Amino acid sequence: MAKQFDVVVIGAGPGGYVAAIRAGQLGLSVACIESQPYADPKGEVRLGGTCLNEGCIPSKALLQSSELFEQANHSFVMHGITADSIKMDVATMVRRKDNIVGQLTGGIRSLFKKYKVTLLPGHGKFAGRGDDVWLVDVNGEIVEAKHVVVATGSRARHLDGIPVDNKIICDNAGALCFDKAPKRLGVIGAGVIGLELGSVWKRLGSEVTILEALPDFLAAADPAVAKEAWKVFTQKQGLNIQLGVKINKVTQSKKGVTIDFELGDEEKSLEVDRLIVSVGRIPNTSNLGIETVDLKLDDRGRVDVDGHCRTNLPNVWAVGDVIRGPMLAHKGMEEGVMVAELIAGQAGHVNYDAIPWVIYTHPEIAWVGKTEQQLKNEGVEYRTGQIPFAANGRALGQGDTTGFIKMLADAKTDRILGVHIIGNNASELIAEAVVAMEFGASSEDIARICHAHPTLSEAMHETALAVDKRSLHF
Ligand code: FAD
Ligand code: NAI
Repeated sequence: MAKQFDVVVIGAGPGGYVAAIRAGQLGLSVACIESQPYADPKGEVRLGGTCLNEGCIPSKALLQSSELFEQANHSFVMHGITADSIKMDVATMVRRKDNIVGQLTGGIRSLFKKYKVTLLPGHGKFAGRGDDVWLVDVNGEIVEAKHVVVATGSRARHLDGIPVDNKIICDNAGALCFDKAPKRLGVIGAGVIGLELGSVWKRLGSEVTILEALPDFLAAADPAVAKEAWKVFTQKQGLNIQLGVKINKVTQSKKGVTIDFELGDEEKSLEVDRLIVSVGRIPNTSNLGIETVDLKLDDRGRVDVDGHCRTNLPNVWAVGDVIRGPMLAHKGMEEGVMVAELIAGQAGHVNYDAIPWVIYTHPEIAWVGKTEQQLKNEGVEYRTGQIPFAANGRALGQGDTTGFIKMLADAKTDRILGVHIIGNNASELIAEAVVAMEFGASSEDIARICHAHPTLSEAMHETALAVDKRSLHF
């Protein structure tokens, strides 16, 4: 007889593993199917998906190591610290990253045991429909599920005529495993991966050129933040970012990789030793048996869902990168929780208006809610407060005063509509703004909260005061 579960989750990335754990916590019988070993030394299936294995976690580990190297080389001296020869051993840096990944993926295995989630290693796909159950094929074995959660995630988009071998021409998987900093690194796409991984290898000595198709830099960010980021990355840090580029041809030879491209009316050519292609990601919907069960996709090839992640099929749900919305781990995790709770008869909910974005460059960039441009386009009347970290005692003490916090609040109600940060620790500071927005707070609410002194969070306090033109220290 086929194994039977209340819930079968396909994919063990942040969306899938969290859905499985929450379903287990709620007393449902649950299985999670995962096909990828990633870089597991024993070739066993690894949990955690793109995020843990080839995304968020390994990239942040490398960003941390490379930032320390950068500081040792350039920032320690202002504190009076000098060292004669600072070296980076890339192999050790990469090993440390691999150990962190191993620790976290192993941790999810333990959590699966703790919450009685059955791991089904193999490829999962819809096989049909039985009486009140879905039939799911796992490497040829059929399991029965009252509910199916599709959490198959996404993979790197590649470009025609640019063969990714993940040695010389790499997507995110290869770019996290270089054995040394290439002398000349090319990156196609000045999005989140291009900026984060471009920063890693730039700090370790690579000459980095980023080629971006769009004429605007960081178009999704608030214009003031994008402007400041452009200044810091190109002028202070020396990232060579070319906007409005059209890639014509990429050829590989013994000398490296040659990229022929157009920039305005000019034909240009760039030679690099390694190339990262980071031009977005595509949802994993192939070989999933969607035709067998008529699972509907949207016009961009993602699984079509409503506001509660319900698909067109009864008791079939989808979460994470495979559906609409930003491709962010925390967004997928929240959806996983919501779906498990709805399956268990509870009132799951995700507030899509309060999902933070973070870009882990230095300075970090983080935001939540609307940008000033969006408010203008929507004709919303707003007030703005903006405070530079140069006016913050803690930032001065840390020797890192780049950037600012900007708050946008509704002109009539004062409700916070968006908060945008560029600066040290923006990733942590944004949490206060997310909480505020989640609870519908006003800038006055933040202005009346006591913030510890001296902290970077005081800049958030000052920014809220600045919305009402009464900042105390600027
Ligand atoms: P995934 O993590 O892609 O997991 C899906 C899993 O399903 C995979 O393990 C896959 O093998 C498995 N699978 C697919 N099809 C099947 C099948 N048919 N059968 C069995 N298994 C299957 N987001 C952030 O929020 N913060 C960050 O800092 C961040 N950094 C990133 C850095 C990089 C370099 C990249 C590439 C991404 C980053 N992201 C970050 C995005 C984040 O990784 C994704 O949003 C997140 O992993 C999506 O989770 P998911 O569960 O939807 O899919
Ligand atoms: P992205 O969407 O952030 O950026 C891709 C960039 O490539 C865009 O600026 C786009 O205009 C450009 N592009 C597309 N086609 C091009 C072409 N032919 N030539 C030149 N440029 C071209 O995608 P990216 O960087 O690949 O990252 C994928 C996703 O992973 C992100 O959107 C994000 O959801 C997630 N991610 C999140 C991170 C975080 O939260 N800190 C870090 C890294 C990735």
